[in-house]
Amino acid sequence: MNPRAAVADFRRYPIISALTAVHPLVDRVLVKWADGRTSPFHHPWLRDNCPCAECVYSVTREQVLEIVDVPENLVPAITRVDTEGCLRIDWQDGHVSHFDPGWLRAHAYDDDSRAERRVGQPKRQLWDSQLQLPVFEYQAVMDDPQALLQWLLALRDTGLTQVRGMPTEPGALTSIAKRISFIRESNFGVLFNVQSRADADSNAYTAFNLPLHSDLPTRELQPGLQFLHCLVNDADGGESIFVDGFAIAVALRQEDPEAFQALCEIPVEFRNKDRHSDYRCLAPIIALDAMGQVSEIRMANFLRGPFDASAEQMPSLYRAYRRLIAMTREARFRLVQRLDPGQMWCFDNRRTLHARNAFDPTSGARHFQGCYVDRDELLSRILVLQR
Ligand code: OGA
Ligand code: ZN
Ligand code: ZN
Repeated sequence: MNPRAAVADFRRYPIISALTAVHPLVDRVLVKWADGRTSPFHHPWLRDNCPCAECVYSVTREQVLEIVDVPENLVPAITRVDTEGCLRIDWQDGHVSHFDPGWLRAHAYDDDSRAERRVGQPKRQLWDSQLQLPVFEYQAVMDDPQALLQWLLALRDTGLTQVRGMPTEPGALTSIAKRISFIRESNFGVLFNVQSRADADSNAYTAFNLPLHSDLPTRELQPGLQFLHCLVNDADGGESIFVDGFAIAVALRQEDPEAFQALCEIPVEFRNKDRHSDYRCLAPIIALDAMGQVSEIRMANFLRGPFDASAEQMPSLYRAYRRLIAMTREARFRLVQRLDPGQMWCFDNRRTLHARNAFDPTSGARHFQGCYVDRDELLSRILVLQR
């Protein structure tokens, strides 16, 4: 890699194709690549992305230049491919920029390059009751960065994993969560104890069945990853149930587009309150990203406030809500499995809904510990492991 390119980023950009020529036009340059591709780069884009030590602080690799600080009509005086194979631009105001061909190709925005980047995006795998559950060994994940990466990729792309071979001491969860990054604390603690208690501040801390839900839908940002570590599971019942919320939303979109639309558009309030706190969040149950793809499910019937929708919307909201819950109860989507001591679920809380069957607390003890880590931490750890 050209050493100058290192200023711009901590990642490496392999040379996919060499630069062969550069043609200046009025408002952009056209770069020709050895594999026949042509990429346009507009003058402001090139000036904005100059990686030189004046424009980017080499310690943080963050930009110090702001594009408004150069004239809007700044154009190159000379453009050429230099002896090291970089694109060199001598600007009319005397500034000089060099662009590494690997970096430039990775950021080229001709139609083919952009389409390639979309194809290269991680592919999420939708699943149903037939999922081959991705299972990982605790010791391998703790010791081996490759095993850690495989686990994290499964979390990102499948959204449900199990880890086996964990110690059964309280707190054992902390070390594996920290393999990813910071734990996200909440009013239930850094770690929360899932046990049936007389003074329960959530239905989770009873022996009731918990219907399919995401945790903390009461927060503007629901936790990205949820860990549930089994210490003791001697009680009858209490099986874990999971569904892929994205798979259900995609099926709903196909099978009942009106219900899907109502759940995307009508906000619903989720509440979690006790003597010391009062969390509320008003948001639609299904969120879409900028591309129109389902990106999040927010759902916990036991935390839901009364619907507050217009008189016209209320019947469609109830119809859509019933339909969604009916789908979460369909066998085709549900993975049911009991967790044994030393095993842990780890899943994408904004995608994979989880539930448990009721258990009989008189038949034996049941103690799980849980915690949360945000999705940003997962994605950052993956990128760093892949460097
Ligand atoms: C929870 C929860 C599942 C279980 O605490 O939010 O979903 O198996 N617990 O007890
Ligand atoms: Zn510069
Ligand atoms: Zn839960």
